[in-house]
Amino acid sequence: MADPKKLFIKTYGCQMNVYDSERMSEAMGGAGYVTTDSPDDADMILLNTCHIREKAAEKVYSELGRFKGLKADKPDLKIGVAGCVAQAEGEEIMRRQPLVDLVVGPQSYHRLPEMEAKTQQGEKALDTDFPEEDKFEKLKSRPKARRAPSAFLTVQEGCDKFCAFCVVPYTRGAEVSRPAERVLAEARDLVERGVAEITLLGQNVNAYHGDAPQGGDWGLARLIRELAEVDGLERIRYTTSHPNDMEDDLIRAHGDCEKLMPYLHLPVQSGSDRILKRMNRSHTAESYLRVIDRIREARPDILLSGDFIVGFPEETDADFEDTLKLVEQVRYGQCYSFKYSTRPGTPAAEREQLPEDVKSERLQRLQALLNQQQAEIQAAMVGREVGVLFEKKGRLPGQMVGKSDHLHAVYVQAPESLLGQVARVRITGTSSNSLAGELI
Ligand code: 5AD
Ligand code: SF4
Repeated sequence: MADPKKLFIKTYGCQMNVYDSERMSEAMGGAGYVTTDSPDDADMILLNTCHIREKAAEKVYSELGRFKGLKADKPDLKIGVAGCVAQAEGEEIMRRQPLVDLVVGPQSYHRLPEMEAKTQQGEKALDTDFPEEDKFEKLKSRPKARRAPSAFLTVQEGCDKFCAFCVVPYTRGAEVSRPAERVLAEARDLVERGVAEITLLGQNVNAYHGDAPQGGDWGLARLIRELAEVDGLERIRYTTSHPNDMEDDLIRAHGDCEKLMPYLHLPVQSGSDRILKRMNRSHTAESYLRVIDRIREARPDILLSGDFIVGFPEETDADFEDTLKLVEQVRYGQCYSFKYSTRPGTPAAEREQLPEDVKSERLQRLQALLNQQQAEIQAAMVGREVGVLFEKKGRLPGQMVGKSDHLHAVYVQAPESLLGQVARVRITGTSSNSLAGELI
């Protein structure tokens, strides 16, 4: 038998891309490929790209340029671009970088093996359709390999919200939820392969409404409650959510579903109502804060995380102060903040832009505040007892690393036999991005 061909996938961007890359490598497994960690010995290189901000998209072109030498040494090497840059720029990628053989958008990954076969005939392959069929069903022929203790599971894709800055509704298309039965089956399969924690993924995951097994549909809360019944599944998380879709039942689940972890990523983007309106967010700072109050009532120890954009067109100093004020009120345990980046084709790209130095200065001030909050919340964990799911060995001898209920990385002296298990840990110390603890 011939040696299997080698596939190198480089993943950019969000967790959904991580999930998609796993599905693509499994699909290519069916076409005779094994994955490799190095582009140098690959027969096929796939970049799974992100288009959310300008820098993310530019990185793809500079990375492609670097493969020129490789392709010169190995003319049979196939180079493919997947993900949101592929969806947004399509043929433009092949024009700009002729060494690309294949361009595949996120809704067409199940067609990847056929597309690869086409490139073997010396042709170029491009597919950025939004087909009707469920690509994940078609991608299912997966080997029963062991999996890491924590896994992603995509339950919903696309977005109908059309925030004025965001490319997602264009690159990932309209909101589509996977049927609940398929999600449950995939979860059971993951648990059989050693997974103890599942993070449900969707660009707008809390708007999930998938077909129910007996007709009708289920919202995210119902899906979580049914997943909680799966034996061996210890922890459930979900991301990313929109404040307007935090329905009562989901908030209640944070209070009464033990397997649902006390962590919630709930982006707000800005604390100024004027800017929120221009962003087309259809919520106010006040309505966001009220949602947070209700969540904290249901689950007082929940750790909140968010996303912020500074320097959106027309943002004044006063608007930015409102953002800082909102951050003070919420107290985030973790946050992601970005300078506004113009995305071609989105409404805000047409508006007058703020100077770069204004954006940079605001980002620095916001990040200083967010970092301070993160440090304070981490420090407040010291002395507390948490659950930790051990995911791998630490750098020091006898050390294991895992994630706490609140998604903090925790380093603990613990036997390797705890890999994949949840154990009780007392937090003993804190450093910049992690905690230290000891087994109880
Ligand atoms: N510029 C800067 N940040 C953006 N995001 C989305 N689009 C843009 C943009 N054009 C951020 C938002 C979103 C996160 C995933 O990325 O904060 O929640
Ligand atoms: Fe983009 Fe999220 Fe707004 Fe949808 S809700 S348009 S994914 S920022």
